[in-house]
Amino acid sequence: MKVPDIIIAVDGFSSTGKSTFAKLIAKEFAFLYLDSGAMYRGVTLFAMERGFISAEGKIDEKALKKALPKLELHFVHSEEGTLLFMGDRNIEKLIRTMEVSGNVSPISAIPFVRKWVDERLHAFSEGGRVVMDGRDIGTTVFPNAELKIFMTAKPEVRAQRRYDELIAKGEKADLQEVAKNLQERDYIDSHRETSPLRQAEDAYVMDNSDMTLHEETVWLRGLIQGKFGILE
Ligand code: DC
Repeated sequence: MKVPDIIIAVDGFSSTGKSTFAKLIAKEFAFLYLDSGAMYRGVTLFAMERGFISAEGKIDEKALKKALPKLELHFVHSEEGTLLFMGDRNIEKLIRTMEVSGNVSPISAIPFVRKWVDERLHAFSEGGRVVMDGRDIGTTVFPNAELKIFMTAKPEVRAQRRYDELIAKGEKADLQEVAKNLQERDYIDSHRETSPLRQAEDAYVMDNSDMTLHEETVWLRGLIQGKFGILE
């Protein structure tokens, strides 16, 4: 018997734990996890490697638009988790560096880039149950998603989380610089013209500043059960 298609959208500010939470949903309820931010990071890496972004951060949009049809990004779902590939190259690590983080917001504000990513997210989600995290999944990409969650947390909590994440990965990081980068990304993400970050009216809001992962899990189970009953 075919299970009914269900899309769960997890949106919110950077470093609110969206991906951890979306992965938790995927694991608990056997959904496919897709990370839309990774796609924007993949496009950013592509633009950087091709030399379309100057040292001052200026983007050669014309060159990017021309080259974009040649870019092939896809997810590989492995034991290590969901990994982003560019052709046959695993770029999961490369897209998480501070350099990519520093360029990704302006890249993701470009309308033709958003269209390119949205089309792929729709293709990847065809059939089945999918949980996707991002900024505009519940508002623009899947406005009819069956369940929408909007995540937020205090800026200082988010900066500390991001900093700890970078240090754990062996990257050099400075807490103040991380906080500044988050602040800049929040601003660009919420003020861009195309699909700005905003809470969908029908989203359930989670502020997890003071929540443990266990508390998040309890919140999630209650929400899923209230919404869908027992998922088979
Ligand atoms: O979730 P993340 O930090 O990996 O996302 C990287 C960037 O991509 C973030 O600055 C905003 C952008 N983004 C977006 O504009 N829309 C999405 N659906 C997901 C991410």
